[in-house]
Amino acid sequence: MIETVTQLKRLRALVRSWKKAGLKVALVPTMGNLHEGHFSLVRQARRHADKVVASVFVNPTQFGPNEDFDRYPRTPEADAAGLEAAGCDLAWMPGVDEMYPLGLAHTTTVSVNGNVAAVLEGERRPGHFDGVCTVVSRLFNQVTPDVALFGKKDYQQLAVIRQLVDELQFPVDIIGAEIVREPDGLARSSRNQYLNETERAVAPQLHRVLREMRAACAAGLPRQLVEQSATQALAQAGFVVDYAVVRQRDLAEPVDGQPGERVALLAARIGTTRLIDNIEF
Ligand code: PAF
Repeated sequence: MIETVTQLKRLRALVRSWKKAGLKVALVPTMGNLHEGHFSLVRQARRHADKVVASVFVNPTQFGPNEDFDRYPRTPEADAAGLEAAGCDLAWMPGVDEMYPLGLAHTTTVSVNGNVAAVLEGERRPGHFDGVCTVVSRLFNQVTPDVALFGKKDYQQLAVIRQLVDELQFPVDIIGAEIVREPDGLARSSRNQYLNETERAVAPQLHRVLREMRAACAAGLPRQLVEQSATQALAQAGFVVDYAVVRQRDLAEPVDGQPGERVALLAARIGTTRLIDNIEF
């Protein structure tokens, strides 16, 4: 039976008792409105630990002033039921006061420096990764997990968190989990439910374009041409494109002609909904 916890004191007592019994603890951080992508993280977490904690917290500090914090879907009862069915032991559902005890105006902020946080999402969503690193650091201090799982759909977030953990030397192993997709290729995301019927029909084009980018790179086309064609294809499908790029796995710009592992990343708006997706190759 899952326990839903809202007070840090209770969370700490439970985790302490597990650790005293020699049990390994996994954390799956989420913002709730859970779907199969999250539940698959919980099931994977079970393979790495004896106890699985999922946090459900819509983190205000990672949303920009014109972003969707207010309309972000909040479904705590359904989340707790879904987590239980997926085999989660504890749902950590703190309020804003529990997460930010001095209030949002007096938050101690954690910020990752360097290219990995500055480019792409970092450029377009100023302060976003500071908010993510701030809340993830707090979650690590609260839950003290041995292992934490993050989905690869947020490819750059995962890279930023890896740097955060390396640099601040959090004693936690980070596991990146494969993207969970709908049968038509659309990556599972809580934001998919903002899409109307027409937008939903267009949204899988993101994955189609990513596969085309992978094929074009494999065929040896110059990176800039690949990026231009992808931007055009998405615009034709009805997206307003933020970026369509090919990067090295560490998100640095690849040198043309130099072989190596790559990732293609897209961010684009359809209607009022901004979607991101990526493919590694
Ligand atoms: O990926 C998310 O859902 C959030 O960015 C995270 C990691 C839970 C931090 O709020």
